[in-house]
Amino acid sequence: MKFKTIIEPFRIKMVEPIRQTTRAEREKLLAEAHYNLFLLKAEDVLIDLLTDSGTGAMSSGQWAGMMLGDESYAGAKSFYKFETAVQNITHLKHVIPTHQGRAAERILFGSVLKPGDIVPNNTHFDTTRANTEYRGAVAYDIPIAEAHDPAAILPFKGNIDLQKLEQTIVENPGKVPLAMITVTNNSGGGQPVSMANIRAASEICRRHSVPLFLDCCRFAENAWFIKTREEGYADKTPLDIAQEMFSYVDGATMSAKKDGMANIGGFLALNDDALAQTCKNLLILTEGFPTYGGLAGYDLEAIAVGLEEVLHEDYLNYRIRSVAYLGDILTANDIPIVRPAGGHAIYIDAKGMLPHIPQSEYPAWALSLALYLEGGIRSVEIGSVMFGHQPDGSEKPAAMELVRLAFPRRVYTQSHVDYLAEVLLYVNSIKNEIRGVRIVDAPPVLRHFSAKMALI
Ligand code: F0G
Repeated sequence: MKFKTIIEPFRIKMVEPIRQTTRAEREKLLAEAHYNLFLLKAEDVLIDLLTDSGTGAMSSGQWAGMMLGDESYAGAKSFYKFETAVQNITHLKHVIPTHQGRAAERILFGSVLKPGDIVPNNTHFDTTRANTEYRGAVAYDIPIAEAHDPAAILPFKGNIDLQKLEQTIVENPGKVPLAMITVTNNSGGGQPVSMANIRAASEICRRHSVPLFLDCCRFAENAWFIKTREEGYADKTPLDIAQEMFSYVDGATMSAKKDGMANIGGFLALNDDALAQTCKNLLILTEGFPTYGGLAGYDLEAIAVGLEEVLHEDYLNYRIRSVAYLGDILTANDIPIVRPAGGHAIYIDAKGMLPHIPQSEYPAWALSLALYLEGGIRSVEIGSVMFGHQPDGSEKPAAMELVRLAFPRRVYTQSHVDYLAEVLLYVNSIKNEIRGVRIVDAPPVLRHFSAKMALI
């Protein structure tokens, strides 16, 4: 290539206005939302980086596909398109559509977990953890040691600790009904997992007859990191790489709201016939018939097209670069982030940035409030509000206090990112004025969604 600028590989066909508010308005809105960004109205947010889940822009190809949606209750054409798209990537035998990722988790865990079981995972996402604990099982996070050091620069900081994986299986005979690997490792900074690590984890699991599942929400982003960082993959296509990743596992749970490029949807895919039947029976109970699983036919169409588009090299190159672009600016200005930049998000290390706020006063939550107050930016805390409350009712500070700035797919342009950087640099310049927060009222599980907070 003669030119080095990586452009957004699309042009914009439809626009959605976003609204500026004043700082005084945002101060009032924050108080009304009990200092919880989940409780804000989206229209009061200028740049919404709460999540990359279901917030992406669909392509003209996806919208065109939706017009072909077959809404038959059973055996719809759209289901077979969806099934083919999933199988083309995963080669897994049974494909069970669900309304989103957590439904796939609930159905899988509801079929295989019993109280006292242990599920090792590089890092469980919050709903994955909650669905495991809801079954009385233990969600055991075993990322490699370096994953807990935001500053450590490793190409595959999302890897699972293989020694701990084997040890957990050996020391708990009959109590590990499955192991999981989350790609990319969302709660650990959006960091990728190497092919070598997936392969080795698979060998361990097969040796001990423990099924291995991928939580594959961001499989395409992970494939891109393998292509660009792991030896031997530079000349392979993202599809080849994804296929190899899935060849090492017995099943997968997926939120199509991420790398499915859709606004809703997910699936559970697996090889075991008997388990698939049990899961389908549970699916019918709460999601729907196995050829739609809680989705409209047009949703299945959108996902089938999205799964193809997400593996385009120009898309993945732009996607990963646009996140790294923000990371580079922050690093150059000494704002501590989880390094290297994640695939779908930048994670600010709030413990490092705000050493004056103790963990008991939730520094990442406090920083996320400051970003909204000063710049109208919505982010999410991934720290002790999200993970500090233990199933036995006790409190344990999270390993890291992070603020995640998650990038919706194909939504914001480079000038939005430049604005973001400007706000972040400003907030960094007034960081000593940021105060901690306390919890006023919170439910026992998944408390971050609805907790009422107050400024200290
Ligand atoms: N697994 C991972 C790794 C996730 O990131 C998510 C969702 C899920 C499972 C559950 O999928 O939302 O479709 O039910 N993550 C979103 C986020 C919500 O903001 O990171 P879901």
